[in-house]
Amino acid sequence: MLTEKQNEQLTRVGPGTPMGELFRRYWHPVAAVSQMKERNTFQVKILGEDLVLYKDRSGHYGLVEPRCPHRKMSLMYGIPEEDGIRCAYHGWRFDKQGRCIEQPYDDTEDTEGRFKQKIKIQSYPIQELGGLLLAYLGPLREPLLPRWDLYVMEDVLRDVGYAVIPCNWLQHYENVVDPDSSARQLGSQPPASAVMASAAAGPQVERSTEVMVNAAQHIASTTQR
Ligand code: FES
Repeated sequence: MLTEKQNEQLTRVGPGTPMGELFRRYWHPVAAVSQMKERNTFQVKILGEDLVLYKDRSGHYGLVEPRCPHRKMSLMYGIPEEDGIRCAYHGWRFDKQGRCIEQPYDDTEDTEGRFKQKIKIQSYPIQELGGLLLAYLGPLREPLLPRWDLYVMEDVLRDVGYAVIPCNWLQHYENVVDPDSSARQLGSQPPASAVMASAAAGPQVERSTEVMVNAAQHIASTTQR
C-alpha cells in the first residue's frame, strides 16, 4: 500500500516535480497526424502543461505555451505562417523555437527597434513518426526518438486510437502488465522500476515505488532545465 506521500510523488508530473522531471526525459505522443489534417491548431495538455500544437504553412509542427505574451491572446486562434505562428490580435509572430521574429506595429514605428529580441515563448520540439506527433518537454538537447519497428514499418495499415484518460501515465500502466507496450509508448525503455511497478504486487510494489521515487529525485536534483 502506497503512503499518501509516495502517491503524491508518483502522480504529480508538473514542471519541477520528481516524476515530472523523470518523464521529461522521454518523447511523448501528443496527437495523431490525422488530427491536424482539418485544423491548424490543437489544444494539448501533457505532463500538467497546457500547450498549443500548430502546423505552419511549410507543414512543420510547433508546440508552444498557450497565450501570447503581449496581451495574453490565445494562440489557439493563431495564424499559421511559412515559419511559425502569428498571434491573431496584434500580429506578433513566433518561430518554432518560440522566438518573437515580428512585431508589425513596433517594426513600422521603429525600424531599428530590438525589443522583439527580448521576447521568447516556451516551445518544445515535435517530431512526426508512425502517424504520431511526439513532443519532448525536457532539457535540450533532446534524445534521439527511437525508430521502433512499428513506427517505421512500411506497407502496413496503422490505426491510431486517441482517448483522454483522467490520470497520469503511471497510474494507467499500473494495471497493464505489458512492459513491451510501455516501452513503445514512451519512445524508449522506461525505467526498469516502471515496468516492475506495472507487474509487481505487494512488497514488490513498495520496493519498486521506492526505487522509482529515488530515481526521480536523483534526476531532479542533478539536472537543470
Ligand atoms: S496579444 Fe498577441 S500580439 Fe498582442
